Order: sequence, then C-alpha cells, then structure tokens
Amino acid sequence: MSKVVFEGVTKRFGDVTAVDSLDLHIDDGEFVVLLGPSGCGKTTALRMVAGLEEITDGTLRIGDTVVNDMEPRDRNISMVFQSYALYPHMTVAKNIESPLMVRSFDVGEGDHRKLSKAERSERITEAARTLGLDTLLDRKPAALSGGQRQRVALARAIVSRPAAFLMDEPLSNLDAKLRAATRVELVELHRKLATTFIYVTHDQVEAMTMADRVAIIADGRLQQVGAPREVYERPANLFVARFIGSPPMNTFTATVAANGASGGVDTGAGILPLGATTGPLSAGEQVVVGIRPEHVTIGDGPLEVSVRAVEWLGHERLLICELGDTQLNVRQVSGDAEIPVGATLRIGVDPAHVMVFDPTSGELR
Ligand SMILES: Nc1ncnc2c1ncn2[C@@H]1O[C@H](COP(=O)(O)OP(=O)(O)OP(=O)(O)O)[C@@H](O)[C@H]1O
Ligand SMILES: [Mg+2]
Repeated sequence: MSKVVFEGVTKRFGDVTAVDSLDLHIDDGEFVVLLGPSGCGKTTALRMVAGLEEITDGTLRIGDTVVNDMEPRDRNISMVFQSYALYPHMTVAKNIESPLMVRSFDVGEGDHRKLSKAERSERITEAARTLGLDTLLDRKPAALSGGQRQRVALARAIVSRPAAFLMDEPLSNLDAKLRAATRVELVELHRKLATTFIYVTHDQVEAMTMADRVAIIADGRLQQVGAPREVYERPANLFVARFIGSPPMNTFTATVAANGASGGVDTGAGILPLGATTGPLSAGEQVVVGIRPEHVTIGDGPLEVSVRAVEWLGHERLLICELGDTQLNVRQVSGDAEIPVGATLRIGVDPAHVMVFDPTSGELR
C-alpha cells in the first residue's frame, strides 16, 4: 500500500504536452479516478506511475520514494490495460501465476527473492478466491466469458500484491450490463484489498459510481479534484460542469441585472434570482448560467419556456424546452402529469442551484 504523489509532473511528446504540470496527491488506500475526454492525457499519467513513460518534468513519488528514474519492475505496481491480453495457451492458473515468475518479491525481513512453488500456489488460490475464479483455474481463456476473462486479468494484477493498482479503461470491452456488475465488483475488490487504486476512464458514470475522488482532466491539465458529490454540486469551471452529469447541465449566456448579483440575471425570457454563494457581479456583465435539468421546477416561477420535444426515459421524462433563443432541458418524474409538445410553461429554479460562470475563463463565480 502506498500513496502516489504527482508534483508538477509534465510529459511532452515533441510539441505535444500530454500531461501539463499535474499536481495530485493520492492517499494510501484511496480509489481515485482520472476522468476526461479522449486524448486528455489519462493513459500517459498512468503510464508514468507504472514507469512505462519517462517523465519530462516534475517529481513523482510512490510512498516516500521519488520514482522518476526507477525501473518499472522495482515499483511494485500492477497495471490492467484496456486490452488485457491473456496468454491463450495457458490455463487460468498459469495466467494468474505469470507475474510471479518474472521477478523477485519482498518476502519480509529484508529478504528479496523469487517465490517458491508453494508460495506461488498460495497466492494464486487467494487471488482466484477474491475474484470468484476458484472453479475455473484449469480452463483456458477461450473457454471463458468476457467477464470471466476480465476477472482473470484483475486476478493476475492483484497476485503480486502491488502497492498500487492501475487500471486503464478495463471495462470498455464489456457490454453495458456486465460493466455495471463489474463496477460493483471493483468497489468490493478495493474494499477487500485496501490498496491504492488509480483508475482511468472517459465515462463519467464509472467515475462517479466508483471513486473516492475524481480528478477531471482536459488537455493535459487538471481541472478539479474532489469527491463525486463535490464535483457534481460545485464544479470549479464550465468544463467540469458540462462533463459531469447526464443529461448534461444546461448552460446559456445571460446578463447580470441592474443591481448586480442580488438582482439576479436577465435570461432574455425573465429574471432568474441567484443564491447567496454567488460572488460579486457587476450590473450589465455577461455571464454563463448553469442549471441542472433536475433543478428546474415546473408550474410556477419567473421564466417562461415552450416545450419543443419530450423524451420518455421510463422513470422520468426529459422536456426539451426553448428559453428565448436557447435550449433548456427539464427533468420531470414520470408519475407527474404529462406535458404536451408545444405547451408554454412557467418554470423556476431554486436560487441555490443556479450556477454562474465567467464567460472567458469558464471559472465558477
Ligand atoms: N507515444 C506518443 N507519441 C506522441 N504523442 C503521444 C504518444 N502517446 C500519447 N500521445 C499524445 O498525448 C496525448 C494524450 O494521450 P493519452 O493516450 O494519454 O490520452 P488519453 O486521455 O488516454 O485518451 P483516450 O481516452 O483516447 O485513451 C494525445 O494527444 C496523444 O496523441
Ligand atoms: Mg487512454
């Protein structure tokens, strides 16, 4: 078990800055998800921890050791890749055993050596039990389902009892149902192992459901790090606000009313009051307003919208509305009275849930 600390860690490939001065402190035993769109630098950040990518600038620590120049095999880290190729000619047991064959392990009292057959066998049994593979140890990968293969890849990663466990989109080859089930298994695995997990994904649902903390990255830069609830309720900027949440947050431009923040914002289709947490704003200033679809209340309030389309999602409906010349999506629970397309509605938003962002920097005001 180890903490993992990035201090100003940068990785450049020629002109491309894949990871830009990353500062991130991951606690011992924490489950942190690196979340961001394709190409934002997630895999590169993970590969630097594993020692598969040289660090251009900054300091990376595992535990209290600076590992910038440490060989991958000396780091005691396991990584599961998106394409977790198993050895097809080997049984499940042999696949799980494979990392134990290639290097020495710290076996206590300063002793560092290759494990004996009995020690390896004990570890295979333990890893297989942890992942529910006990009865499959003699099978070859071809005779396993996708989910079982995925679990073999995880067992192979935990068998070396790593100080930290790195996963790069390990669920992307699974169908939606299996992905949801495996998410729960991963959270349980983390609880059982009590080891540091660093998990990379572009899927905000995976991040929000599994992480102790989510680190949101865009263009190689860390945007915000916090507990799922924190980044959802108080996104640091527009990127985070729009990336997290499904359906996404409504965002549109508005003008600060004549008497500043206390007067609310003029949406062009009514004045919307702001909550006490909004910072000072100048009258007439342009801002970007953010409202989550579930925070809109129907039937009363200062704004008028017209319903352009209705999406029925089973447990809820999403009303696609027009607010002046912008779109505003409104969530409505399915039990409530149905609203026809073309209807005109009065809507309101609890001022505490109206977010205001700077249109230039994107920062929350
Ligand atoms: N070996 C390399 N040589 C040159 N550029 C690279 C190399 N590896 C990555 N990059 C670039 O660095 C940036 C970050 O890549 P990275 O693979 O870390 O992104 P990612 O967030 O994992 O994306 P994805 O979600 O698509 O896997 C991209 O612009 C990519 O093209
Ligand atoms: Mg990647």
